[in-house]
Amino acid sequence: MATTSSTPGSTIDAPIQIETRDGVAVVSVDNPPVNALSRAVRQGLVDAFSTLADDATIDGIVLAATGRTFMAGADIREFNTQPKPPLLPDLVAMIEASPHPTAAAIFGTALGGGLECALACRLRVMTDDARVGLPEVKLGIVPGAGGTQRALRLAGFEATADLVTSGRMVGSSEALELGLVDQVTDGDPVDAAIAALKGHLASANLPESASNRIVSAPAQDLVARLRSKTAAKSRGQIAPMRALDLLEETASLSFEEAVAKDRDLFLELREGNQAKALRHLFMAERTAGRPDDLANVEPRQIKQVGVVGGGLMGSGIGYAALLSGYEVVVVEQDANALERTRERFEALFEGAIKRGRLNKTGRDRLMDHIVLTNNMSDLAETDLVIEAAFEDMDVKRDIFKALDANLRPEAVLASNTSYLDIDMIAQAVHDPSRVLGLHFFSPAHVMRLMEIVRGADTAPDVLASGLAVARKLGKIPVITGVCDGFCGNRILKAYRTVAEFLVEDGASPQDVDAAMTTFGFPMGPFAVQDMAGLEIAYANRRRQGESTDPAERRPQLLERLVESGRLGQKNQKGWYRYQDGERGGRSDPETDAIIQAAAAEEGITRTRFASEEIERRLLAAMVNEGARILQEGIVAHPSDVDLVMVHGYGFPRHRGGPMFFAEQNGFERTLADVAVLHRAYGKGWEPADWLTDAAKNST
Ligand code: 3HC
Repeated sequence: MATTSSTPGSTIDAPIQIETRDGVAVVSVDNPPVNALSRAVRQGLVDAFSTLADDATIDGIVLAATGRTFMAGADIREFNTQPKPPLLPDLVAMIEASPHPTAAAIFGTALGGGLECALACRLRVMTDDARVGLPEVKLGIVPGAGGTQRALRLAGFEATADLVTSGRMVGSSEALELGLVDQVTDGDPVDAAIAALKGHLASANLPESASNRIVSAPAQDLVARLRSKTAAKSRGQIAPMRALDLLEETASLSFEEAVAKDRDLFLELREGNQAKALRHLFMAERTAGRPDDLANVEPRQIKQVGVVGGGLMGSGIGYAALLSGYEVVVVEQDANALERTRERFEALFEGAIKRGRLNKTGRDRLMDHIVLTNNMSDLAETDLVIEAAFEDMDVKRDIFKALDANLRPEAVLASNTSYLDIDMIAQAVHDPSRVLGLHFFSPAHVMRLMEIVRGADTAPDVLASGLAVARKLGKIPVITGVCDGFCGNRILKAYRTVAEFLVEDGASPQDVDAAMTTFGFPMGPFAVQDMAGLEIAYANRRRQGESTDPAERRPQLLERLVESGRLGQKNQKGWYRYQDGERGGRSDPETDAIIQAAAAEEGITRTRFASEEIERRLLAAMVNEGARILQEGIVAHPSDVDLVMVHGYGFPRHRGGPMFFAEQNGFERTLADVAVLHRAYGKGWEPADWLTDAAKNST
């Protein structure tokens, strides 16, 4: 680090340090882990800037941070209470009004309020690997401390609208091109910021403050184009559209008026249901899979990962492991199957190259770390094996016996089963404590959810190893206990059953799908089933059917569709009829006839259901099953259910997950809806005790 002079560091407030280097005061935020702008940080910065205002010995101020990143934004944990002064907009205004020239030294990520502070400086320098962004919409809000208006004046309307409505982060070359930063460095950001500041001072060409720059109103056709793009992407989320409206409205206002309007909208949205839901998920995602009883448990060392089964799921798992830096061995049973596995990997590599995520050198390097084989004995050195074979207990137990014979005794053995009893699988090996479930979702290299299934005998360090692997793969791990379908597929079953009952009783598949897409799901339950293939659900239902109480009403339609040869999109007919070249399905008189015949046989008089009724029944089914899962201790927290449904099943993120949504709308409302299900469908639809208690406690 090239410093020519410095004075000893002084501390204004705990999270802020000031040192003088080369005649420039470096004000550093020190608030791990991400230097969020908590009240203490804001106060410390206000104190620092007011102290330095009168310091005639300095030539300028560099705003910097210590640790792993520049300031990553306002402290989200403070959003549930009224903000305490000093407020972020006041701090930002103070930075901009500093009598000394200022520069921000950005590294890691400068996000939200962090970028807003940087934009208030006269200069911004960023490291080449840093990223900047205004991700507020991802929290259901808009930038609340002038970030939108300064970005508008630096980068123009279109770029700012894109940044603010998408919340995406941009890298250094794009940030430079957009004018959000003035310089990119591959060296130390503080040194570079000091040098840049001094250089501009020496040549008397320090850029104007962003707020003083001229902004021109956007063309109407540009606004119209952005509006339709944003509407298509935001699907029920209000913040992106409100941000765009505001940007359009404020582009013709003075900076002060515009910033005041931004702040008003920030405060309004912050209190709204969507922002609360998104905050809930932000925190849940970061605390998931950290049970107290594992706090001091060391995971086993995992370097080499084996996958048994190179089908769609197994290849996706192997590919995800490869991308995350593991050595990978994939076992298939014969040469033909192995060839298909090789083709799947090639397709995955090709897809990544096409999307610009990988280049050919990267692919060749990755390929050096994967072995495709027919021999179980090639798994001898693996530290973890994930079985991703056919969903059949006997098949899985045979594989586990073979793993027991071929692997080191300390290697962790996992099954990717989505329904089966992990404890029964574990009984196939000598030491069941090394067995757990690692349930990936398809496509395994894309979907972020991973259910980590803790068997009755799973050792704590084996569970900790599963969690460590999930984190290394960038997944969101949710620990579940053993039950048929674990958390997600169990709730899915309840959801699909009620969806089918609604159709038997008079709704059309389109009515049901439309109600759920209006609620915010990307697809309705029937369109999803057609896409996945009806026979998978059919096989499952037959397997589960054996244990279903005959006194319970059972859905009939799926069986009838499959038995009449309707398998979904794969043969162009399922709940819907599909035509070449069309993305969605159309209603099919053949399906209608099957539905009507089934209803007639059951003696059902069919009636129409309003969209709201459909939505409420389906949500009640999900929440009641979630409540049962909680009361049985299958998962520990309501937020676990939320994460599973949001990340694995398309539950709209801005609703926070079924349990959060139910709580937000009052558990008593859901309890009343479950009573409707019970009256309509009878045995098996009693309200869960957990839900009854939650309703009682919330009144
Ligand atoms: N406030 C409080 N805590 C935060 C935080 C924030 N803004 N951002 C991250 N954290 C915490 C996380 O909860 C986590 O805590 P933990 O270690 O106790 O679990 C820790 O920091 C590390 O976070 P990640 O696990 O996410 O670490 P990564 O390295 O994967 O990612 C990150 C770092 C890219 C900074 C990511 O955390 C992130 O995107 N944070 C949110 C940034 C953001 O949304 N900023 C805008 C806030 S709103 C705002 O500024 C309003 C303003 O306009 C008025």
